[in-house]
Amino acid sequence: MKKAIFLLPLFLLANEWFITNKEYGKMLYNNPRGISCAKCHGKKATGKIIAKYKKNKKTIYIKAPNIQNITYEKLKKRLLNYNKLSIMPKYSYLTKQEIEALFLYIKSQRSKK
Ligand code: HEC
Repeated sequence: MKKAIFLLPLFLLANEWFITNKEYGKMLYNNPRGISCAKCHGKKATGKIIAKYKKNKKTIYIKAPNIQNITYEKLKKRLLNYNKLSIMPKYSYLTKQEIEALFLYIKSQRSKK
């Protein structure tokens, strides 16, 4: 009985942490100590056309993909392994906690349009 009373505040604290961590993820998504993910992948991670240009009378689109359904492993891998050939900037300075928070936010955007 004593134990249950003791655990309750911890439970509330954990819950609160979860909410604030998602908020933290949202903040990071928009301002990841670098160029905003939202600028290319869109506010709700649905992906976006970043630029277009004409080549031999054909319009070429440069797109950032929809990442709403990305797995944590893929997200982590993509952020930590910078690809020189990609338009996507370098984010390998992000910490594990920051990537987790980003993942929580991206996941929360699933099925949003
Ligand atoms: C300047 C534009 C730009 C910015 C800013 C950007 N990305 Fe990207 N991102 C891209 C492009 C283009 C691709 C597709 C090519 C590639 O994988 O490099 C991509 C690919 C990805 C992928 C891999 C998707 C897949 O299906 O494998 C993930 C995950 C991702 N971005 C997450 C992020 C996150 C999180 C941020 C912010 C921390 C971010 N990106 C910022 C342009 C951008």
